[in-house]
Amino acid sequence: MSGQKNILVLNGPNLNMLGTREPTIYGSTTLADIEAACVAHGEVLGLAVTCRQSNHEGELVTWIQQARGTQNGIILNAGAYTHTSIAIPDALGASEVPFIELHLSNVFAREEFRHHSWLSPLAKGVICGFGAKGYSLALDAMADILD
Ligand code: DQA
Repeated sequence: MSGQKNILVLNGPNLNMLGTREPTIYGSTTLADIEAACVAHGEVLGLAVTCRQSNHEGELVTWIQQARGTQNGIILNAGAYTHTSIAIPDALGASEVPFIELHLSNVFAREEFRHHSWLSPLAKGVICGFGAKGYSLALDAMADILD
């Protein structure tokens, strides 16, 4: 890996429904709009951004594994897997790629089961509660981390 920094923006289950999914909680921006904004903001920061989304835990695990040696950083909104998955943090540990955990909503202002994350202890940092804007905040933070 040399030259331009590669960043994977990874979204988990149900985030393909953004725009129509509970807009009072998640906002009305679609995932396609978020991904386009990530690529555009990445260009400003000199980061090559690749965006992927899956509803399947194993597929997310495979992509995180593949990030080892190919991606310099991961922005991860693991959706509900944040609160349930052991396989995803295991993959992140194995990949050794620095990552930022992200949530559109303020999970701490919501149900108690959303207060615990299996990812946070491994994350460089956590961004939550800023809606779609959180993705550009995460890219800014990742650019600083990788500088
Ligand atoms: C979420 C918060 C999670 O608790 C929830 O299961 C999601 C989305 C967020 O972006 O706010 O699917 O990660």
